[in-house]
Amino acid sequence: MYNSKITGLGYYVPDNIVTNEDLTKFMETSDEWIQERTGIKERRWITEGSEDTSAVMGAKAARIAIERSGLTKDDIDFIVFATLSPDYYFPGCGVQVQEMLDMKTIGALDVRNQCSGFIYGLSVADQFIKTGMYKNVLVIGSEFHSGGLDKTTRGRGVSVIFGDGAGAVVLSRTEDNTKGILSSHLHSEGKHAEELTVLAPSIRHWVPEILEANDENDESYFPYMNGTFVFKNAVVRFSEVIMEGLQSNGLKDTDIDMFIPHQANLRISQFVQKKFRLSDDQIFNNIMKYGNTTAASIAIALTEAWEQGKIKDNDLVVLAAFGSGFTWGSVIMRW
Ligand code: UT7
Repeated sequence: MYNSKITGLGYYVPDNIVTNEDLTKFMETSDEWIQERTGIKERRWITEGSEDTSAVMGAKAARIAIERSGLTKDDIDFIVFATLSPDYYFPGCGVQVQEMLDMKTIGALDVRNQCSGFIYGLSVADQFIKTGMYKNVLVIGSEFHSGGLDKTTRGRGVSVIFGDGAGAVVLSRTEDNTKGILSSHLHSEGKHAEELTVLAPSIRHWVPEILEANDENDESYFPYMNGTFVFKNAVVRFSEVIMEGLQSNGLKDTDIDMFIPHQANLRISQFVQKKFRLSDDQIFNNIMKYGNTTAASIAIALTEAWEQGKIKDNDLVVLAAFGSGFTWGSVIMRW
């Protein structure tokens, strides 16, 4: 059996910086509240009229990742695209990337696992490589949140948190079984599906029905989050799934060289950091600059950490995420 390792990484975020202070112009909030509860100082939001979408940003990040892998687009065998904010209800963004990058008619799979989307995507790609079916798989996480947020005081509990951006990696076959993805661990608990959700439009609640009702109090098409409940579950599940990953490889928390958590909330990351007794240089956070970019967040953070020289050859790198579904997961890899 083969192993898979990351051979190229890239990210793309829109130029437009929206600070906490900027948000106070259209909702009742404050820089102090947002920083204290989430750690976020600013986020990137696509400006109106920009060409950027989830697929476009994903393709931009992918171009960088492919170039850095030393491969060409024609060497890629398969695309996995994780997003909760696709350009179309269907088809998915993966096929758009295949077209935008002018790739061969390779398979393209969209993953719908929200904040855990990139972890699920990496795991899927890893399985395809381990079985020998593919040599190089492009895994993308990308989100265009800003177009779908309630940017009034009513939506402030959610809208201040989310940002736009994309990250991508190329996962490639290696015959060195000591390097690359050692294991991945995936979980879900659907009974909490409506604790963090966008209810409409859906097949049950479709556009003509929404338009006909013309109900300005209808919040079903904005993201809803039971924040405190999600927070409490996140800290437990993050810890469990990291422990599961370490134990299944016979490793301990002291073996972790770099932990890249999904950037949900700086307080969640700090809780996990403390639990696993990690020093500040064993964890990488960038939620301060980008907010929560959901399926893109780990890919962006991993790329930035690598660009800044914080991940070295042979390091034990742990990725973990928790989010809507609920879904959660971890990936343990030797760099
Ligand atoms: O990535 C997917 C997973 N997501 C997460 O893991 C996120 C988990 N949850 C959280 O990060 C936190 O729950 C939040 C940051 C979303 C909220 O923080 P919180 O400490 O749980 O605040 P809260 O929702 O309990 O709200 C406290 C107060 C409320 O006012 P009252 O009822 O106490 O008067 C809210 O109305 O803060 C108010 N509030 C705000 N005030 C200023 C909520 N949002 C804002 C805001 N600005 N943006």
